[in-house]
Amino acid sequence: MWQESRLSRLLNIEYPIVQAPMILQKPLVPLAAAVSNAGGLGSLGCAEMSINELEQRVAQLKASTDKPFNLNFFLHKPPIYRAELDDRARSLVAPFYENLNLELPADTSVTEAETFDAEKLDLLVEQNPAMVSFHFGCPQGAVVDRLKGAGIRVAATATTVSEALALERSGVEIIVAQGWEAGGHRGSFAVNYEDTGIGTMALVPQIVDAVDCLVLAAGGIGDGRAIAASTALGADGVWMGTAFLTCTETPITGIHREALLSASDEDTHLSRAFSGRPCRARRTPYSVGLAEGRPDFPEFPLMYNYSSPIKRHGIAHDDLDHQFLLYGQAAALNRERSAEQLICELVEQTNEILTAMQTLGRTSV
Ligand SMILES: Cc1cc2nc3c(=O)[nH]c(=O)nc-3n(C[C@H](O)[C@H](O)[C@H](O)COP(=O)(O)O)c2cc1C
Repeated sequence: MWQESRLSRLLNIEYPIVQAPMILQKPLVPLAAAVSNAGGLGSLGCAEMSINELEQRVAQLKASTDKPFNLNFFLHKPPIYRAELDDRARSLVAPFYENLNLELPADTSVTEAETFDAEKLDLLVEQNPAMVSFHFGCPQGAVVDRLKGAGIRVAATATTVSEALALERSGVEIIVAQGWEAGGHRGSFAVNYEDTGIGTMALVPQIVDAVDCLVLAAGGIGDGRAIAASTALGADGVWMGTAFLTCTETPITGIHREALLSASDEDTHLSRAFSGRPCRARRTPYSVGLAEGRPDFPEFPLMYNYSSPIKRHGIAHDDLDHQFLLYGQAAALNRERSAEQLICELVEQTNEILTAMQTLGRTSV
């Protein structure tokens, strides 16, 4: 049975379906709790939380579920400010500020972004979530050992086989194999994203063959057909982001929900115009205009200094063209329903397909 995978056994969950961590306007505690309560693994994107907020959100999550959950952090290198990149980005964003009648921010030399540090590591060991996952990097062996020593399972994103091997060498136990289709930021840390762009279908079996770790398929998994396919590719489970965006527990705005419920396969592209890192999101005049010619932008997360005021304006004016709607290539499969309903339907559909395939196999022999 696909449900009784290595992931389900390792984490003591009913279904090997992980709700990907996603940072939105509001924290996803109710969604994560609903997913965990329904037998999957709920995740909380903690990368932008201060230590106090992290403590508060984990307490809220623990009050809403006694089931396992995952906490997620970014491992990007501290950005280096480069005046020439700043000047170029400034000249590219200036027309958008002019059109919207907004004041252009000073520059991108200052950022107050949170980082993963020793204090947060101590808190994780104390709070003891079932799993901690990392994006944008390879955790140091000492960090992995400390978490594993506390009984916490460690996962991280890879976008190529070489990244998966580096994660395995660091002691990571669960690889999130993130294909090109995935919504949100590419987790790439050792490769240039323009030179790779490997789709989930090609990436998952190659990572499965290369490592002994558990492998989760991520990117474009929108229904039970894709879960069945991921099982066939050798994945120990799936890691789904976009599909959970239209759950009733997900705190997105009405206009965001409408955009997702009327999405098409051609809606999105990869752009570094939002944050400085490649990110799959709905095309907008801003993201398309700035991506032209693939200029280098100020490093992640410095570019937010220029994009955030535009996004805030878009949200305040219900203007889709000036928001950053992160979602993946399979968003057209999204429907509105509760997380529990979604998980039930995913499980039912996957079971039906895998049973039909078995029957087909028997009759064709
Ligand atoms: C709105 C949104 C926000 C995301 N934020 C995070 C994040 O904070 N941390 C992370 O590891 N991945 C993040 N991701 C990427 C997901 O982990 C995952 O790779 C992706 O959603 C899988 O592709 P799918 O959206 O097609 O299911 C985000 C994705 C989306 C759509």
